[in-house]
Amino acid sequence: MTVTKPKSIVVIFGATGDLASRKLFPSIYNLYKKGSLTESFAVVGVARRPWTNEILRENVAKSIEKYKPTEAELDDFCKHFFYLPFDVTDKSSYQELKNMLSSLDNEFDTEGNRIFYMAMAPEFFGTIAENLKNEGVTDTNGWTRLVIEKPFGHDYDSAKKLNNDIRAAFQEHEIYRIDHYLGKEMVQNIEVIRFANALFEPLWNNRYISNIQITSSEELGVEDRGGYYDKAGALRDMVQNHILQMVALLAMEPPIRLETDEVRSEKIKVLRALRPLHVDEVDSYFVRGQYAQSEGLDMKGYREETNVPEESNTETYVAGKIYIDNFRWAGVPFYIRTGKRMAEKSTKIVIQFKELPLNLYKDVTDVEPNLLIIHIQPDEGISFVLNGKKAGPHGLTRRVKLDYCNNCLDGMNTPEAYERLLHDCMLGDATNFTHWDEVALSWKYVDTISKAWSEKTAQFPNYEAGKMGPKAANELLEKDGYHWWPILDNNYYSV
Ligand code: BG6
Repeated sequence: MTVTKPKSIVVIFGATGDLASRKLFPSIYNLYKKGSLTESFAVVGVARRPWTNEILRENVAKSIEKYKPTEAELDDFCKHFFYLPFDVTDKSSYQELKNMLSSLDNEFDTEGNRIFYMAMAPEFFGTIAENLKNEGVTDTNGWTRLVIEKPFGHDYDSAKKLNNDIRAAFQEHEIYRIDHYLGKEMVQNIEVIRFANALFEPLWNNRYISNIQITSSEELGVEDRGGYYDKAGALRDMVQNHILQMVALLAMEPPIRLETDEVRSEKIKVLRALRPLHVDEVDSYFVRGQYAQSEGLDMKGYREETNVPEESNTETYVAGKIYIDNFRWAGVPFYIRTGKRMAEKSTKIVIQFKELPLNLYKDVTDVEPNLLIIHIQPDEGISFVLNGKKAGPHGLTRRVKLDYCNNCLDGMNTPEAYERLLHDCMLGDATNFTHWDEVALSWKYVDTISKAWSEKTAQFPNYEAGKMGPKAANELLEKDGYHWWPILDNNYYSV
């Protein structure tokens, strides 16, 4: 396969912010260093602050310090970066940007290709998109693409408004909505595990799978994001996007080809098949939690965090049971849970297979269900839990775990999600970005849950910081005869 090396200018709105220095600059550097970019690229940082090219370059240099570039490497890289102080509501800023981009096109041979990356507060996305178009910044001989960070709206209505605003200036195929989970190595591996192994696909349905569990737990609290988080909560922050995207990848039908439209249309079908909830049944399907202080671990409770109201009713934890009402998945619960200040940072998917029709060993031993575990992070890999013979008397079985560790392989350095996604965008591959229909359907699903929760004050706080969430999350599975498989103790799965 020939790998094309993209030529483009990336305009970063919000270049003085956290996302730019934590994720975007390092990702561009890694692409450059690996030779995935040619010299034909430039980055223009725009933001309100009166920075200069030099200040931006100093910040870029700082953000890639950990890769230890030599002086010469640093100079070569940083000379591609430019800064423009910018007022998003002032038309003259767009004129200046337009002129700057045409001269950079000549200097770096970028052929008029432009990526406009929105790495800033979402309330300006619409204004920026409109001005880019009206002021002719998007009129070029090359392609133009708009990259949008989350949150993409706050609910279905606000997302639709935002979408209408940006669609006035960019067409759907030019819009790249980021869900950084789709850039993770092991999230991308879900498709390969499913569609490149004769072993799994025949079993991947309600005849053989009893339930699927997705856990994305975080050790950290809300840090300095209390202001944003208190308006969002775990449901909007994690479930509407990352978790439902993983559900869609796990549940979709094999696409006829691995092309953007084909993959997206299969994911959309899953989201259309999510069993809608009525407001009054939300409590039987979803559990919310908020972390309390942990004295033992010296951790604050959520309500003590900066910029969080003392009586906050915002959930920092969600567990839920999702049904997909189609032929393949009818009757199979997809249990999901995610939260801040849980015991460990970990994202794992456990696929639990049904038990055999007859357990020949039941008098002597417990035969465990087979599990396929997809370890998304921090460890990346796949485990398969089987039953084998226990050494000694005939008939005793024991749990056996087959493990494949992706990031343990020598020389394997998994690229950051952002690196992959930026590169995909430069190449015009939108497969791992979310289509509007996916965003819309996900919002419609979670809006009912938010509505139900906003109507009732929760009994918060209800889980201790540093633990695995509220008791009700265990009961959610227990009433179906299941339990959460441990994510903490990897040894659990080995013998
Ligand atoms: C972001 C959320 O989208 O994802 C954060 O806004 C969350 O609150 C983060 O911490 C988790 O991402 P990751 O890659 O660390 O699992």
